[in-house]
Amino acid sequence: MIRAGIAGMGAYAPEKIYDNAYMESIVETNNEWIMQRTGIAERHIAAENEYTSDLATEAAKRAIKDAGIDPSEIELIIVATVTPDYFSPSVACLVQKNIGAENAAAFDMNAACSGFVTALVTAEKFIATGTYKTVLVIGADALSKGTDYKDRATCILFGDAAGAAIVKATDEGGILSSWIGARGADFDKITNLAFKDDPAELEKRISGNKNTFWMAGSEVMKFAVRIMAEATENVVEKAGLSMSDIKLVVPHQANLRIIEGAAKRLDIDSDRVFVNLQKYGNTSAASIPVALCEAVEDGKFQKGDKIVIVGFGAGLTWGAALIEW
Ligand code: UT7
Repeated sequence: MIRAGIAGMGAYAPEKIYDNAYMESIVETNNEWIMQRTGIAERHIAAENEYTSDLATEAAKRAIKDAGIDPSEIELIIVATVTPDYFSPSVACLVQKNIGAENAAAFDMNAACSGFVTALVTAEKFIATGTYKTVLVIGADALSKGTDYKDRATCILFGDAAGAAIVKATDEGGILSSWIGARGADFDKITNLAFKDDPAELEKRISGNKNTFWMAGSEVMKFAVRIMAEATENVVEKAGLSMSDIKLVVPHQANLRIIEGAAKRLDIDSDRVFVNLQKYGNTSAASIPVALCEAVEDGKFQKGDKIVIVGFGAGLTWGAALIEW
């Protein structure tokens, strides 16, 4: 089997910022509650005429530059998102047009906040089978487009961003193990309605807008702490390694309490877990690639180091991958 590794990364977050003082001005909340319960200080918010494909395109351009490739070399584009510009066509097709990757196949994936890991693992399979050598994987979400800004339990969490990776066949390192999973029985823990007429779901939305996210926060949090630790342990074990071999864990940036809870279960110090949610909030599929990109830029690990990326999200879903950089 051919190994797949990350040859370049790029991230993008829109300019506009909603800080906690702004959140205090629109819902009954306060900076202290938000900081204590989530760790989030500010979120980047797309402009009115800025959509997921715009964020994804900018991140993709940066990843292409970082990898030093030409867009014509890209054979497949996978975009993980739950906030597409259109139900159809896919964001991936819009990105293909925007970056001029005319040789690439293109499709979107919906695994919510586990989307980037799911897309990366999918890309790896195309590479492992020798089908493609160069794949562009993007996690991009403009959650603000589907946020109920009357619901203080969710609106203080969400932000917009995109992160992209050029995934290439490699002789050294790359993805050593992975695990993706789902528990559809808990489909109703985080929802955003599309075509379905569902009065009970609509009732939960304070704004009455069916195209907004609703979630059972506390229940999701308990699941998240457990599954983040379990998925990390799973990929470490599958690779025949132990936690002491892992330089850094880059988790989905949903809530600092979730990350700290998972780190405690894994018995690892906070300096081995990357956190940047204070600046972005929860950006769904973008969260892990944006964090990974920043961890690279900050020199948190070097070539040859082993890291784990791990996430959970609506579905419910989860995904983890162990990468030798
Ligand atoms: O990406 C994956 C998707 N989702 C997540 O990762 C979210 C996971 N869940 C969470 O992050 C947390 O559950 C939240 C941050 C959403 C909420 O924290 P919590 O500790 O689970 O609080 P809670 O929902 O149990 O609410 C505690 C109290 C409630 O008041 P009462 O009933 O005790 O009087 C809420 O009404 O806090 C209240 N509350 C707020 N107060 C001030 C809820 N949101 C706010 C707020 N400001 N923004």
